[in-house]
Amino acid sequence: MDFFDAITKRATVKRYEKKDVDDKLIGVILYTANYAESAGNLQAWEFIVVKDDEDARSQLYNASLKSDAVKSAPVNIIVCADTKKLSLKYQERGENVYAVQDTASVATIMVLTAQMLGLGANWIRALDEDKVKQIFGIPADIRPVGIVTVGYPAEKSEIIRRQPIENLTWYNFYRKKYNKAYYFQTGPKEEVFKPIVNQLIDKLKKKK
Ligand SMILES: Cc1cc2nc3c(=O)[nH]c(=O)nc-3n(C[C@H](O)[C@H](O)[C@H](O)COP(=O)(O)O)c2cc1C
Repeated sequence: MDFFDAITKRATVKRYEKKDVDDKLIGVILYTANYAESAGNLQAWEFIVVKDDEDARSQLYNASLKSDAVKSAPVNIIVCADTKKLSLKYQERGENVYAVQDTASVATIMVLTAQMLGLGANWIRALDEDKVKQIFGIPADIRPVGIVTVGYPAEKSEIIRRQPIENLTWYNFYRKKYNKAYYFQTGPKEEVFKPIVNQLIDKLKKKK
């Protein structure tokens, strides 16, 4: 699977097969996640891999406001932010803004890596942070911001249509149309757009 497909063919997976995921694959997901961008390169994130423990999974299911994905996923990774680390360097902005943005950046890489590995994933925010802290013994200055569920998809997820990007992008000035990029000339037809992107990437590689 190429990078382009990993992004455009990805869909959130909410139901998983009852099939174990090799810990080596979980290792790859965590390893790549650790390369995510982070404010000041603090890497103010920590992970709890919930796996092979029915009781822990069931408690997480209750604390995640009964998410079906958490219930059926063989692996649930709790993504935490180290708010102390962030507030020491960035004060209130670190604690409230970067904690959320850093973990969102990490979660994006995790979900995409899972897709590249032939797995499925779901980024879940609907959780009771206090309950999760209590269940997993998470200290006060570590905040469980979300959960990434991982497993083999039990069904093919539908790729949800996106709003056209041309309706969401402006050129130099808000509401001024941006119509120079390839995409805006070809429209959202991937069979037209993808070869152009790949040619462009090849050309840029050769230039190096
Ligand atoms: C910040 C954020 C919070 C989300 N929270 C939840 C959630 O609590 N439960 C859930 O099932 N999906 C959650 N999702 C997944 C979105 O529902 C999903 O990405 C969106 O519907 C688009 O579908 P797709 O990922 O299949 O393209 C969340 C995604 C993001 C980025």
